[in-house]
Amino acid sequence: MGFNKKTIRDIDVNGKTVLLRVDFNVPINDHGVITDDYRLRQTLPTIEYLRGMGAKIVITSHLGRPKSPQDASASLAPVATRLSDLLHLPVKLVDNCIGNASQEAKKNLQPGEILMLENVRYHSEEETNDENFAKQLAENCDVFVQDCFGVAHRNHASIVAVTQFLPSVSGLLLEREVSIITNAMESPERPLAVVIGGAKISDKIELLDKFIEIADFVAVVGAMANTFLLAEGVKVGKSLVEPDAVDTAKRVLAKARERMQKEQFTFYLPHDVVVAEAIDSNTQTRVVDISSHTWADINSYPKKPTPASYTVQPNELILDIGPISAAIIAGALKLAKTAVWNGTAGVTETTGLAGAAKPFSHGTNTIADALVGEHAGDKNKPFSVVGGGDTVGYVESVPTLRERLNHVSTGGGASLELMAGKKLPGVEALLDKDS
Ligand code: 3PG
Repeated sequence: MGFNKKTIRDIDVNGKTVLLRVDFNVPINDHGVITDDYRLRQTLPTIEYLRGMGAKIVITSHLGRPKSPQDASASLAPVATRLSDLLHLPVKLVDNCIGNASQEAKKNLQPGEILMLENVRYHSEEETNDENFAKQLAENCDVFVQDCFGVAHRNHASIVAVTQFLPSVSGLLLEREVSIITNAMESPERPLAVVIGGAKISDKIELLDKFIEIADFVAVVGAMANTFLLAEGVKVGKSLVEPDAVDTAKRVLAKARERMQKEQFTFYLPHDVVVAEAIDSNTQTRVVDISSHTWADINSYPKKPTPASYTVQPNELILDIGPISAAIIAGALKLAKTAVWNGTAGVTETTGLAGAAKPFSHGTNTIADALVGEHAGDKNKPFSVVGGGDTVGYVESVPTLRERLNHVSTGGGASLELMAGKKLPGVEALLDKDS
């Protein structure tokens, strides 16, 4: 099913004032410097298209979760500056998204000019989807363009209520995100291989359930895999686990095994893991081959390996998948035609000694290499759809990786909800294509 909402290509914006909702919720460090402007750059095609068509553009966004307008760390000022640099155009910021100053600024806009309104979340009415607040945002505008995929799962005033007051269509980023993700879920080119990681099963349970039903291969990695291993009776030492989710893990495993018995489907948990006594680049690491108690006994016959060699010790933490697991997952990804990756395989933030390869990112590196066809001359590589905060953070830390993946989503929670089959309020509220 294609994207069935009207987009900016379907309407005439010449000379019109367009209220453009974006997700410019970007990381900003203590010095007020934006450390990642991916979301800004992904919105440029929409802004440039609207300018090219002669629109006057009023940008509205949230940033963070401020408790009050006094929270200067949530000001969009650095964002307006960076956007201005990216566009080589002035971007004027008005310090309140509603009120006289913003209304006057909207009225005075000329075609091609860009105005940015200060953080909508400085007003509590934003999150209560308040109609009166939305009406003030819409005032002196002719059209609403929704391009904030990252927050399209929120029922907020500048996303949903505002559509009551203006004809509302999609921007190019929202259209692309929804089309690619929906297509990967509903009609992927098969095999469809999925790698799900991250810390918590509870965050991604709906996704796991969904992929166990529709994918051809599902691998669970990262700290989430620890809870699955625990549910399988494997000793995980002092690894990060979710004791409350062990029953959920057992249910998911049972569901996966049931499907594996009926059809060609693989649910894969790591065979081997990288462990250390601390999350520290100076610490000694070792690979624990969880499955080796079966075959290593034979390999080392007549000498038996000590149980310690294939058991995570009480003082050890699992911090990455091991090389065998990484190779198996990479193989599945290379055989796949479509791949969805959400969640890193290990603690990829720990810097390596003297800038060398990070100690717990080898599993994640192998997954990324397989997705971009690093060792296969770019021949055997799937169409890759990548999402999730930690995954995107990792992708950005590897030079040129983002460009070599097919789709790196700007949405965290929104992409999880869309993949799980939920409707996004920010998309539902837009005009239908055939209306
Ligand atoms: C995000 O960063 O995922 C979006 O901007 C949504 O932010 P929120 O979780 O604060 O609504």
